[in-house]
Amino acid sequence: MTKTQPPESHSPDGQSLEELVLARLRGNRRTGYDPFYRFNYEYSIPSPGRYQWQWFWDSCFHIIALAKLDNGMAVRELQTLLTAQRDDGFIGHITYWGRRGAFLSALYMQSRFGEWRRRHSAMLQPPLLAQAVEAVYRANNDRDFLNETLPKVLAYYDWLLRERDPDGTGLISIISPYECGMDNSPVFDSVLGLSHPGRFGLLWKNRTLDLINMMRGNFDHSKIRRRNGFSVVDPLMNAVLADGLRAAARLAADSDLAGRASEIEAQAAATEAAINEQLWDEELGYYVYLSGKDRTRLNDLTAGSIMPFINQSTPPERVRRVVEDHLCNEEEFWATLPVPSVARNHPDYDAVGESSIWRGPVCMNLNWFFVRGLRLHGYDSIADELARRSKEAAQKDFREFYSPETGAGMRGTEFGWATVAVDM
Ligand code: GLC
Repeated sequence: MTKTQPPESHSPDGQSLEELVLARLRGNRRTGYDPFYRFNYEYSIPSPGRYQWQWFWDSCFHIIALAKLDNGMAVRELQTLLTAQRDDGFIGHITYWGRRGAFLSALYMQSRFGEWRRRHSAMLQPPLLAQAVEAVYRANNDRDFLNETLPKVLAYYDWLLRERDPDGTGLISIISPYECGMDNSPVFDSVLGLSHPGRFGLLWKNRTLDLINMMRGNFDHSKIRRRNGFSVVDPLMNAVLADGLRAAARLAADSDLAGRASEIEAQAAATEAAINEQLWDEELGYYVYLSGKDRTRLNDLTAGSIMPFINQSTPPERVRRVVEDHLCNEEEFWATLPVPSVARNHPDYDAVGESSIWRGPVCMNLNWFFVRGLRLHGYDSIADELARRSKEAAQKDFREFYSPETGAGMRGTEFGWATVAVDM
């Protein structure tokens, strides 16, 4: 006899998380015609009234959430994301779709000088592309889709390694805090010349940095590095890169590009080895950030500093130390709702502040990575508990952040990437 499983959880008015996810991402949907690309775009915005454009990693999370629920919607968001890809493989962290796109691109001053018609910023976000494509492909098993999409995905990773790791160290660098997605994280304060900054100080420094990056070198990392500008090796960015390369290798093996699978796998392993050689701190038991030409170590304990445990070849003893000593430590990350973006015992930890972001509150998208890594390394009961608490918070409200102390939603409302809880 077959039994129908009841949906995992229900909102007060009886809707399942899956139904709520679909309703949210449909509600945030934006469609239209873009005259430059001659393309009918379709994507979900992160949050009405707050973030109106297509954001790179937000879209990847939307695609992951949608893959099993409405695969066609996921595919169209992915095609939109890839349409603004440059010929050299680069994809910007924001794309301003539509007739006003070039104007907005110039206005926000995060785009390459003179490239405004292309409608995208000149900065990155965590390279989650292959994970998103893998989610779509596992759900639709469509080899034509895979063969059409994979070359673009590989061109994107090739760009990252070529432009952001020109010496072949295995690690890529970021040229602005905005690139790692954790914009106002306190780990960047000292690099920006700030100490316990407020909202205005952070905004001013970051926007000035964008302007300098545009005026002096048009966002070209090699030029920024030469003048010793903002260039940081971020453990989160690199952990997401390695995880993405692993996904790309699996996809390649299933595609017409099967011949490239082992080379991509080797690059993933090289990045993981470099993370463990260059960023691991044996005494602290977590990963540090490196800043500037002299590679100054930044020891602040953030969700980014523990992220590399999720990678496939992280030595088991290091996974154990990160998970048991930090992630599950109540003084650091194991809060009422784990995982705060900054350790609870960090001097700048602020669980309730909403004016600056990424200085304490939990972000659902990072929890998705943590659950994925915990399962990969066999920590299933911790993964289950983290997924349970995350889904409970998402079920109540899709928000930009949540308080680690109470689980209450914070800041941006009707937030797209909080829907990724459905995939935990
Ligand atoms: C904020 C976040 C960034 C995100 C964007 C849109 O700028 O820091 O990571 O992509 O909002 O949600």
